[in-house]
Amino acid sequence: MASTTLAPAGINFVEKPGLNKRKDSGNGITEPQPQFHVQASEHAAEPVVKAPAAAGKDEQVRVVALSEYKAAARCLAEAFEQDDVGRYFVDTPGTKDWTAEQKWDLHLFMMECITYCHIAQGMVTTIGPDYGGVALWMPPNSSDMGLTTFFRSGMWRLYYRLCREGRQRFFTEFMPLLHDIKAHTLGDRDASSWYLVYIGTKPAARGKGYARKLVDHVTRQADRDGRATYLESSNAANLPFYRRLGFRECRKLYLQRSEKVVELDVMVREPAAKGE
Ligand SMILES: CC(C)(COP(=O)(O)OP(=O)(O)OC[C@H]1O[C@@H](n2cnc3c(N)ncnc32)[C@H](O)[C@@H]1OP(=O)(O)O)[C@@H](O)C(=O)NCCC(=O)NCCS
Repeated sequence: MASTTLAPAGINFVEKPGLNKRKDSGNGITEPQPQFHVQASEHAAEPVVKAPAAAGKDEQVRVVALSEYKAAARCLAEAFEQDDVGRYFVDTPGTKDWTAEQKWDLHLFMMECITYCHIAQGMVTTIGPDYGGVALWMPPNSSDMGLTTFFRSGMWRLYYRLCREGRQRFFTEFMPLLHDIKAHTLGDRDASSWYLVYIGTKPAARGKGYARKLVDHVTRQADRDGRATYLESSNAANLPFYRRLGFRECRKLYLQRSEKVVELDVMVREPAAKGE
């Protein structure tokens, strides 16, 4: 396997030859730019499924409103508390003397900023009582985040709340890298695909089928429209789960600025053929 080092020091990716390669996906990787790419969506105002009014509504997927961003973010913060990528931005040399509580606060705040951005400019869905499961999506035909969302989401404050190394990892390297790898992987389908940015269920809500329902909710739509769905998996233990949902690995990313190298698997799900 070949390994390509990208401009940001300490991050590279390995491509699995032949997997998910399309003739029309020949975009080169551009130099990562130090800016945060969250994209706006024409779908944001038009949820695929509206909030149900009937009994048992907690067991159905619904779209989260802006006023709910803190509660939805809390689910993701709990789900990703021990996740290697989640820790990557919080466990840095500059936070080595922080208490667990201080680190949790930063982690939660980060999830709140990210969740706000995706409600404002993408789509956030939830299922289960008390936001048991939450997914952040960027629907097709999104555009870059505007300044308004950058400020309203608190992202500008996150810039200062992260220590220097955390800021470097998140803003200068991680976000541009994800943006560029997605563009490279999907090629000319980049704009027209669905992007599953985050999915998590609270520890007490696991094994109830919430994650599967959150993914199915969008992939059913993607199948109807003939669109691909893209994600980065931050935990190798989740690969069988994603494979069962139709995703296939196509690349690995390595985050190498911490002592422990953090691996992510890039996965793409092709739309099911009509009638499948
Ligand atoms: C991964 C995660 C979202 C799964 O949530 P969940 O609501 O428990 O998943 P579901 O109940 O929908 O499980 C769906 C299926 O996948 C299986 N599954 C779920 N997580 C799995 C895992 N880590 N490894 C293997 N199988 C898994 C379930 O057994 C179930 O199988 P079945 O459909 O055959 O019964 C949850 O464990 C989580 O939040 N983990 C921490 C955050 C995280 O890793 N998020 C994903 C980042 S890539």
